[in-house]
Amino acid sequence: MSVEVAILGATGYTGAELIRLLDVHPHFEIEHLAAFSQAGKQVSEVLPSIGSQSANMTLAKADDVIPESVALVFTALPHAAAAKSVKKALDAGKKVVDLSADFRHPSLTNYKDAYGLEHPFPELLKNCVYGLTEHARADVAKTNLVANPGCYPTSVLLPLLPLLKEKLIDTTSIIIDAKSGASGAGRAAKTGLLYCEINESLAAYGLPKHRHAWEMEEWCKTYTGQDVHVRFVPHIIPMSRGMLSTIHLSGTKCDQWHSILSQVYKNEPFVNILPLGTMPSTGAVKGSNRCDIGVVALSETEAVVVSCIDNLLKGASGQAIQNANVMFGFSEVEGLSVSASWP
Ligand SMILES: NC(=O)c1ccc[n+]([C@@H]2O[C@H](COP(=O)([O-])OP(=O)(O)OC[C@H]3O[C@@H](n4cnc5c(N)ncnc54)[C@H](OP(=O)(O)O)[C@@H]3O)[C@@H](O)[C@H]2O)c1
Repeated sequence: MSVEVAILGATGYTGAELIRLLDVHPHFEIEHLAAFSQAGKQVSEVLPSIGSQSANMTLAKADDVIPESVALVFTALPHAAAAKSVKKALDAGKKVVDLSADFRHPSLTNYKDAYGLEHPFPELLKNCVYGLTEHARADVAKTNLVANPGCYPTSVLLPLLPLLKEKLIDTTSIIIDAKSGASGAGRAAKTGLLYCEINESLAAYGLPKHRHAWEMEEWCKTYTGQDVHVRFVPHIIPMSRGMLSTIHLSGTKCDQWHSILSQVYKNEPFVNILPLGTMPSTGAVKGSNRCDIGVVALSETEAVVVSCIDNLLKGASGQAIQNANVMFGFSEVEGLSVSASWP
């Protein structure tokens, strides 16, 4: 079975990664690629990385009509622009996986606090599923709109949710010290992302409260019923892709956390609890859809959990395809790699 798909925002980092993955997917076929400032050009003019037939396609405008034959739309657009495109695609009867933040917040207050906007289509949130696939696949299979989680929240929620559900974490003292490669900020030109600004440099950003902190707190609460406060400090590091979140935790029975997480994720192809004493690295997950997690108990009541993903894969386009596979009843691993591009 073949399903025709469209990518809106095909010229950005997550859009380009979607093209690369979908080009070799056994069931999805790219029919429509759209952009904004680059509309009208050939894909090959804008994305030198693409060597498939997709390179010969002409980029439509993000608001052009999507062909009727397309059943699934990936929206890889900036927030606010994404919401409008999602609404149009749903109205046209398509299923949608939205990579932006526009539908990640069932709480309109949190969306407004995090993004400074009134939500334009709150009625669409009712049937929207937050696509942290390992924790939502039954709902993802039934919906026509998936809000693909943010990259930092994916790296943090995967290790935290099982431990929060067991009420093992002190929810008032969670400290997340996270690092991201520069592709996390997208492809649009920004002074702070110039080579001279980030090369051989490390900088914190997003303080006092980065947008993804609202997303982490909201989904911890939704999944576990507990009010959770995270102190989250992201940093940008001089590499293209990769994300590592070091999570400092207090709680109870910390010496059992490794075995609890190992048990919860033992059959999950994309969540890898590393052997005791082993810590993850961005290099070991680059190009894969894996989240690698290392757990160290410092004492009965203190632990450090380190979680690592490729921000463009499990943090964005890889998880988007994982969700699309579930939405269409395909094997969840189709088109995705569990192995990294290494070294
Ligand atoms: N980068 C990551 O690691 C990551 C991870 C998770 C989620 N996300 C989210 O995924 C979405 C895409 O991120 P990205 O990093 O791929 O962004 P990006 O590299 O900046 O690409 C943005 C894309 O959207 C188009 N675009 C820009 N402004 C637009 C507008 N006003 N209306 C319609 N289209 C517009 C651009 O087209 P032109 O090139 O033609 O201008 C481009 O194709 C964002 O919402 C982001 O927050 C990103």
